[in-house]
Amino acid sequence: MELQRATITAVAHYVPDKILSNKDLEKMVDTSDDWIVTRTGIRERRILEHGATSDMAVQAAQRVLANRGISAEELDLIIVATITSDMVFPATACLVQAKLGAWNAWAFDINAACSGFLYALSVGTRFVESGVHTKVLVIGADKMSSITDYTDRTTCILFGDAAAAVLLEPTDEKELGILDQKFYSDGRGAEFLHMKAGGSLRPASHETVEKRMHYLYQDGKSVFKVAVKGMSDVAVEIMERNKLTYKDIDWLVPHQANLRIVDATAERMGIDRSKVMINIEKYGNTTAATIPLCLSEWWHKGLLKRGHSVILAAFGAGYTWGAMYLKWSLENGK
Ligand code: COA
Repeated sequence: MELQRATITAVAHYVPDKILSNKDLEKMVDTSDDWIVTRTGIRERRILEHGATSDMAVQAAQRVLANRGISAEELDLIIVATITSDMVFPATACLVQAKLGAWNAWAFDINAACSGFLYALSVGTRFVESGVHTKVLVIGADKMSSITDYTDRTTCILFGDAAAAVLLEPTDEKELGILDQKFYSDGRGAEFLHMKAGGSLRPASHETVEKRMHYLYQDGKSVFKVAVKGMSDVAVEIMERNKLTYKDIDWLVPHQANLRIVDATAERMGIDRSKVMINIEKYGNTTAATIPLCLSEWWHKGLLKRGHSVILAAFGAGYTWGAMYLKWSLENGK
């Protein structure tokens, strides 16, 4: 079967207005602006004060539809990558579908944490490549503030809220679009990064609330080591099998978990900092939103251009990780 090529035909993002700075965090936990900047690269993050993940997702989605000039009813499929769904069920994607009025689309969520957007982009791409669908909306959205323990200085400094989305459509252009992808999972990583309660293993109870088990738990040191190796290994694998050197790549778009992880990944790939999309200082780790948030900001600034070679790479809870290689086909965003 001849596969259709899939490409991104619109991109947009939404971030809440409220800023939580390192100075603000200094008043909440025993930390300092200097420690946070040196160890993570983060200066501030956004917090959604009212509403849920689906509200941010809808904002990003509406901007995508407006950019592309299509109605919600033209969508075939909506995939939302999130670990902070509005409710355990139904899927946030279904809530987004209803709020958009995307009555011809089916909708589901993907739970792959910080790799969520790439997993969702991979699945969406397959539906376009196989010819099953022509308009697939892929959203990465997380209200991390809803599962962050603001008494735990080792995690509360890291996370923020945001949503960003892309539209996938078929293209006849042979040279442009989504060209390759590679993904991994290793469930043995679950013990290092998870939420202890609220699922079927430990349903919510007075005890789970008292023990603060409804927040994200992370063994940062263990995650740090595997994140660097996982993300750089898979990015190098994608480069090698597409016979790419650092010279061929215009942009590396890494998941924004920690600036030191980003730098180590870029170094391993031989890619200069000037070719790496980095906005972690403004937003922290927004989990499923980081990669499309970078794509949207760089495209809207006119820095991500038609024909650019781009590598997307992510690592997250599960463990999950992967990379995708694409040639950007959207005309200049400026
Ligand atoms: N402010 C001040 N000190 C802090 C602190 C904070 N916010 N958080 C931790 N510390 C302290 C620790 O208590 C420790 O003190 P000790 O030596 O007296 O015990 C010291 O700083 C060093 O802690 P450590 O955990 O070794 O720091 P680190 O350099 O590994 O940085 C993370 C911690 C969380 C920033 C880092 O491990 C990380 O980014 N991990 C991976 C994150 C990630 O990728 N997560 C998502 C998956 S994609």
